Amino acid sequence: MGLISCIIKANDRTGKTVFASRDLLRSLRIEDARSIRLTLGSKSTDVIVKSFSTKGHSLRIPTSVARFLKLPFTGKCLLSRQENNEIRVGPLIGMLTASGSKDSSGRRGSEGIKQLMRAGKDRSFVFAFAKNDVDWGNETVIGSFPQPSGGWLRRKVPLPDVVYNRFLNRNEERSSSMDRFKRRLLGKGIPVFNWSFFDKGDVYKWLEGESAYKYIPESIVSPSTKQIKQLVEKYPFIYLKPTHGSAGRGIYRLAYVPKHGYYIRYRHGGKNVQIRYSRFDVMMNMIEKRSNMSRYVAQQGVRLIELDGCSVDFRFHMIKNGNNEWVISGIGAKKAGRGSVTTHVRNGGKLIMPMRLLSGVFGSRAGKVLDNAKKTVIELAEAVERKCPETLGELGLDIGLDRRGNVWMFEANAKPGHTIFKHPSMKSAGRNSWAHLFEHCLYLSKFRGGRGNETGNRHPRMESKNTTSDKIRFERNGKIL
Ligand SMILES: Nc1ncnc2c1ncn2[C@@H]1O[C@H](COP(=O)(O)OP(=O)(O)O)[C@@H](O)[C@H]1O
Ligand SMILES: [Mg+2]
Repeated sequence: MGLISCIIKANDRTGKTVFASRDLLRSLRIEDARSIRLTLGSKSTDVIVKSFSTKGHSLRIPTSVARFLKLPFTGKCLLSRQENNEIRVGPLIGMLTASGSKDSSGRRGSEGIKQLMRAGKDRSFVFAFAKNDVDWGNETVIGSFPQPSGGWLRRKVPLPDVVYNRFLNRNEERSSSMDRFKRRLLGKGIPVFNWSFFDKGDVYKWLEGESAYKYIPESIVSPSTKQIKQLVEKYPFIYLKPTHGSAGRGIYRLAYVPKHGYYIRYRHGGKNVQIRYSRFDVMMNMIEKRSNMSRYVAQQGVRLIELDGCSVDFRFHMIKNGNNEWVISGIGAKKAGRGSVTTHVRNGGKLIMPMRLLSGVFGSRAGKVLDNAKKTVIELAEAVERKCPETLGELGLDIGLDRRGNVWMFEANAKPGHTIFKHPSMKSAGRNSWAHLFEHCLYLSKFRGGRGNETGNRHPRMESKNTTSDKIRFERNGKIL
């Protein structure tokens, strides 16, 4: 049995009788005048279902039942028939955002929640919430529902069927209280995906022993001074990167030129600086005064392809779809600002068209190079997912190509931004990306048709991750920037 789309209306009756159109009863394979269990998120109630004649799939429920279930509003949504005559209404999708009532009403990540709501229009109840909005005693949460006309509707609803984590404060996310909070959701059987930001060192370690490890430049986590010296003398240049860094903050690029000395480049006070040291230890003193190497990774530098003498790298935005498979939903190419050690837009980088760039660099091989990169990023996403102990639904992979077309992964971002989709040519790819994310929410919350639908438990524990794929999944409509 597939998922059933239905219109729910409330009537002013009291009692426990709900009315379902004959079409709906037929689709649900439920007999007239049966007792069923109606569920929304974590709330359930037993009702008698009786038929009434109207066209299509329609459900009329007494206001008292709607109140008990804490149905946020009436209208279109999905129904999913479970074992034991249980009908789930929903799904109820919660997007976890930063604390504070202002943020939970959607200011932070408000664009995301609107996009997700658009993708799940008439098929879900999508809301934003913060940690403090949850009342564990009553198993309710105050959700902020974006309104099509603008503004937000705050409603007390049951705990959701699935949580999409868009909590973007790195430090707070690492706190034990946040960890406990998310584990408590899991303990209620609620899948939480995009669990937390990654630590670069963890990701590199996860991939050790995987065949995808060959795409990671040689890396040393928490390097000693001696190891840094060895690495910088082994490769033409190396990178020092904070394991918990982002947006290029705290990154150094080091090069050793025999007879000349050591060259270091980094960003300082909004400017790119380059300094030459004739002695390694003097340079390390300067670095260690500014940065704690025990929280850094030293990494082989990759000579990236260039445009106008500036390095270029790529962001592959990956989403899991309704079949639990990784899909590349967008590719952005970024050209570094002059003299910058990273390609971040905030450091003067620019979004550019990858295909024109690749044709310029690789000529007739460009298509092959891109296909190989797509195959490789799927392999990388699957490998990261296999090793990550938590559930992933989205990844932003920072990928470099060298002149030979070899693929290198610098970083996997667990909560990627959606800025590449802001480019006019990426709008439809952006919409597809949210459509996949919504389908993945259906998948995780077990709101799905076909096989597995009838047998699924209401709140299943995380199931084994099925990540096998042998073909490239790239959005047919998803454009390359
Ligand atoms: N090993 C490397 N070789 C060449 N360039 C690199 C290397 N590591 C990082 N970079 C450049 O620096 C950028 C930022 O590095 P990344 O690991 O993604 O850190 P952040 O967390 O700051 O984004 C990359 O997108 C790439 O342009
Ligand atoms: Mg990065």
